[in-house]
Amino acid sequence: MKKLLFLLGSMLVIVFGLQQCKPDSTEIPEPEENYKSTPDTIKRPFNFPPINIPVDNPLSKEGVLLGRMLFYDPLLSIDSTISCASCHKQENAFADGGKAFSTSVFGLTKRNSPPLFNLVWMKDFFWDGRAKTLPQQVEDALIHEQNFNAAMAVSKLEKDSTYVALFKKAFGKPGNITQQKIEKAVSQFMMTLISADSKFDKVMRGQATFTQLEFDGFYNLFMKDTGNVGGFGADCFHCHANSSGASNLTMMDNNFHNNGLDYAANFNDFTDKGLGAITGSFTDNGLFRTPHIRNIEVTGPYMRDGRFSTLEEVVEFYNSGLKLSPTVDPQMKFAHQGGIQYLSAYDKQALVAFMKTLTDTTFLNNPKFSNPFEQ
Ligand code: HEC
Ligand code: HEC
Repeated sequence: MKKLLFLLGSMLVIVFGLQQCKPDSTEIPEPEENYKSTPDTIKRPFNFPPINIPVDNPLSKEGVLLGRMLFYDPLLSIDSTISCASCHKQENAFADGGKAFSTSVFGLTKRNSPPLFNLVWMKDFFWDGRAKTLPQQVEDALIHEQNFNAAMAVSKLEKDSTYVALFKKAFGKPGNITQQKIEKAVSQFMMTLISADSKFDKVMRGQATFTQLEFDGFYNLFMKDTGNVGGFGADCFHCHANSSGASNLTMMDNNFHNNGLDYAANFNDFTDKGLGAITGSFTDNGLFRTPHIRNIEVTGPYMRDGRFSTLEEVVEFYNSGLKLSPTVDPQMKFAHQGGIQYLSAYDKQALVAFMKTLTDTTFLNNPKFSNPFEQ
């Protein structure tokens, strides 16, 4: 009996204690009139373009932390089962490793989950570019992946005193929770996801050297154009690097292309119209935003539908698997013959070896980006 009383007593203490640290949201005072969150900055990596943080969403330490919590919190889905991190996993550079399609609240996603990093230098989000800003993208993700609308998210968060306090700390006065603030906080966290410390970066900074295989893969294949009649490089740089070359190491062109994955007899034959479905222009059918090549080793399976499981398959596709269609990119000069066809076994190995130098283990293991609830 004594034991039971003791147990009951400790339970009361626990319940009471919990209530004390989880007061009703109205008990958390509004921020002082002159309250300011702590400014946070992100560093521009070597030979990356300048960083433009949106003027209406400056980074703060409190905002980034709040965004990180929201990113990892399943609370933001209709049935509290799925968070952004369910499909965007740090060990896969925030892609969904090993999965062609991810499991959303509705079932499988229609496309492969892309990795998330270096978003501050991106102009269009999603494979088809349907979002132009990160907050827009967050709204889309909440609705389409987590079956959640803003009003539901706001009312769920308002019931949680920890979040009520965190929103006040991140955004000051007025201390209410809004859809805009949710989107801004998650965007702030995502803007801090910068990957620029791979072996490739170290080589560019003069702190490491390529092996002969990696060197050939980068300079003689990836970065070298194909000749008009065949021979020379593998021409990957036209899309997967920036035309301004060494002064822009983001390794993306911020553009849309049809890289020849599918055969189509005419403009309306694409099963996934991609950019065309967004712009309504038939000449955009079958075009998709060039995906990241950084961290590619850990983001497979590859392409918007995860059709290739290995980088070797991807390289073989460019060598001999290209399909013709009315919008296939002019850079795919040899699409009529299925690809350049002349890559040797050594060339293919070299391309893959180079691509693996883009793995950034500093980023993949950075504790600042990990699940804040598991620390
Ligand atoms: C069920 C899996 C799933 C969940 C949950 C999910 N995403 Fe995604 N995410 C995807 C898929 C799939 C795409 C690509 C969709 C497309 O392009 O049509 C994507 C695309 C994105 C992109 C665009 C990246 C790029 O390269 O264009 C960002 C940013 C992103 N998600 C962030 C988030 C955030 C933030 C959350 C949480 C609010 C979230 N995602 C929740 C699967 C998911
Ligand atoms: C004309 C532009 C273009 C060229 C040239 C090009 N690519 Fe791509 N690449 C793309 C596009 C667009 C996609 C995404 C296509 C899709 O899924 O619909 C892609 C996808 C990829 C992927 C998969 C990325 C992922 O996250 O799923 C890899 C790897 C890749 N390309 C490597 C290469 C290599 C290696 C070369 C040179 C041999 C090359 N690319 C040449 C445009 C191009």
